[in-house]
Amino acid sequence: MLVTRTAVACLLRAPNNEDLNELPKFLKDNIRRAIWWFRPFVKMMNRLLRALTFWGHWLQFQVEWRFAPHPPEWFDHTIDQHWRWDFTRNPMSWERGVFGALAMKQGGRVLDLCCGGGFFSYHFYSLRASKIIAVDFDPLATRHATKNFKAANLEFRCADIRTGMPEGSFDNVVWDAAIEHFTEQEIADVLRQIKQRLGATGILTGYTIVERDEKSHPDHEYEFKSKADLARILTGNFGNIRVFETKWSDPLEERHNLYFYASDAALPFESDWTQRFEVTSS
Ligand SMILES: C[S@@+](CC[C@H](N)C(=O)[O-])C[C@H]1O[C@@H](n2cnc3c(N)ncnc32)[C@H](O)[C@@H]1O
Repeated sequence: MLVTRTAVACLLRAPNNEDLNELPKFLKDNIRRAIWWFRPFVKMMNRLLRALTFWGHWLQFQVEWRFAPHPPEWFDHTIDQHWRWDFTRNPMSWERGVFGALAMKQGGRVLDLCCGGGFFSYHFYSLRASKIIAVDFDPLATRHATKNFKAANLEFRCADIRTGMPEGSFDNVVWDAAIEHFTEQEIADVLRQIKQRLGATGILTGYTIVERDEKSHPDHEYEFKSKADLARILTGNFGNIRVFETKWSDPLEERHNLYFYASDAALPFESDWTQRFEVTSS
C-alpha cells in the first residue's frame, strides 16, 4: 500500500524526499538507484526530441519567412524558443519581455496591444499581472494565441486598436514591436487613447526597431530614426520618458532596437521608483 502510494506520488508530481522517506531504507535506496539508472536514456530521448523540434521550427521559419508571398505581420516566437536562439546564440528576442515585465505592477491590470501570437503575454507578463487583455487585429494571430497560451488571467481579443481599443483603466500598457506599424498620425491617436487608460500612475512600455536603408517589413508605416525621434513622439502625452537602445549582430541579421518607458509616474531605475520585482505562481 505504502509502495503503491509512493509510486503514484512520484508519477503524478516531482518526487520529494518526504514521499520516499516513508519507505523502508533498502527500498528507498533501490528506487533511487533504479530511477537514476534511467537518467542517460531520459537525456538521450530529450536530445533527440530537441533535435526534432529544432529542425521542425527551422522548417517553419523557412516556410513563413523565406517563401511566403507576403511575410507575416507577426513572428511566431516558438521559432525563437526552439530554433533561432540555439542557432544564433542571440538572446535578443527575450529583451522586450524582460524590460516590459520589469515595469509591470505586481498584480496589476495589463493591456497588451498588437500582441501577435501571444507569446510574451503568456511567457513574460501573465505571472506579474492579475489580468491581461491582449489584442491584435489579425484573427490568425489571436487564434494561435488562444490555442497555444491558456491562462485564467489572460484574454485574447481580435480588434483594431485604432478603432476598438479595449476600454477600462490599466496599470500597464505594452506596445511591443508594433508602433512602427502605424502612421505618425495614428501613433499620436493611439498614444492619446493609451494615456486615457493609464491615468497618472500607469506605465507604457514597448519596443521598436531603428530604420534601416530599406524598410524592415512591408507593413511598417513609420520607422523611427533614432532615440530622439521616438522620444519626440512620446513626449506630448507623458511627463517621464525613457528610451534606451540595444544593438545585436548574429548570423541572421544586424539589429538596432529602441525600448521605451513612458508615464507621468516614476519609471524603472529612477531614484523614486519603488516597485519591487516579485513573481508568484498560482
Ligand atoms: C511584429 S508584430 C508584434 C507582436 C508582438 N507584440 C510581439 O512583440 O511579438 C506586430 C503586430 O501588430 C498587429 N497590428 C498591426 N496593426 C494593428 C492594429 N491596427 N490593431 C491591432 N493590431 C495591429 C499585427 O497584426 C501584428 O501581430
